[in-house]
Amino acid sequence: MLVHKPITGSTNADVGALGRDGAPHGTAVWADEQTDGRGRLGRTWESPPTGNVYLSVLLRPALPLERAPLLCLAAAVVAAEVAGPHYRIKWPNDVQAPDGRKVAGILAELEVERGALRYVVVGIGLNVNAAPDLPSATSLLDVDGVHRDREELVMALIRGLLTITSELERAPDAVLTRWRRASSTLGKHVRIGSVEGEAIDIDPTGALVVSTPHGVERVFAGDVEMVRRHDA
Ligand code: BTN
Repeated sequence: MLVHKPITGSTNADVGALGRDGAPHGTAVWADEQTDGRGRLGRTWESPPTGNVYLSVLLRPALPLERAPLLCLAAAVVAAEVAGPHYRIKWPNDVQAPDGRKVAGILAELEVERGALRYVVVGIGLNVNAAPDLPSATSLLDVDGVHRDREELVMALIRGLLTITSELERAPDAVLTRWRRASSTLGKHVRIGSVEGEAIDIDPTGALVVSTPHGVERVFAGDVEMVRRHDA
């Protein structure tokens, strides 16, 4: 089922409610505008009716709970590939234009029951025709001047999410490889909270592996800042 709404609070909230009611894998809602768009780490996602995509998809993957965070990374791989060949991913799942500005964000919300993953709502906000007025943000239109059909983008995102979810179930390493290939974070000197060092890899759960002067640390959530090396 795919529902299009001119306006809603949050498509993630809509799909979460459908998930609680037992809606099937692949159920999706997209909107022209959200009045209560949610971002990562408790932030707001500005969602004006300016020709962008606000999409949420219900996934019921056969994955152990510890591998569920991989869905966030997998969704970023899909969004970056749909955006175009030169788009990159900042860990865990910000999609960046070739100049490093953010063009899409992903919020994956997990529903867990008795220690097992029941379903995941993957929400994608893609700046198609307009970006928020921030130096760090851009839109597909700003990047190449091409007007895109939002419905085609929505269909490509849903198809991509369903395909990559089954790939994650069968061959998660292949998905990790696709993420590494699209990453703008690996090989960089980064700071995430109190952890600072070189981002050297992601582990099989999707955590960022950082080599610091105190040893190798794994980071499970947070915002990556690119920093200049003190000795550079
Ligand atoms: C981020 O902070 O980068 C993630 C933003 C995710 C926004 C999308 S828009 C569609 C879906 N509905 C929401 O309320 N949030 C997500």
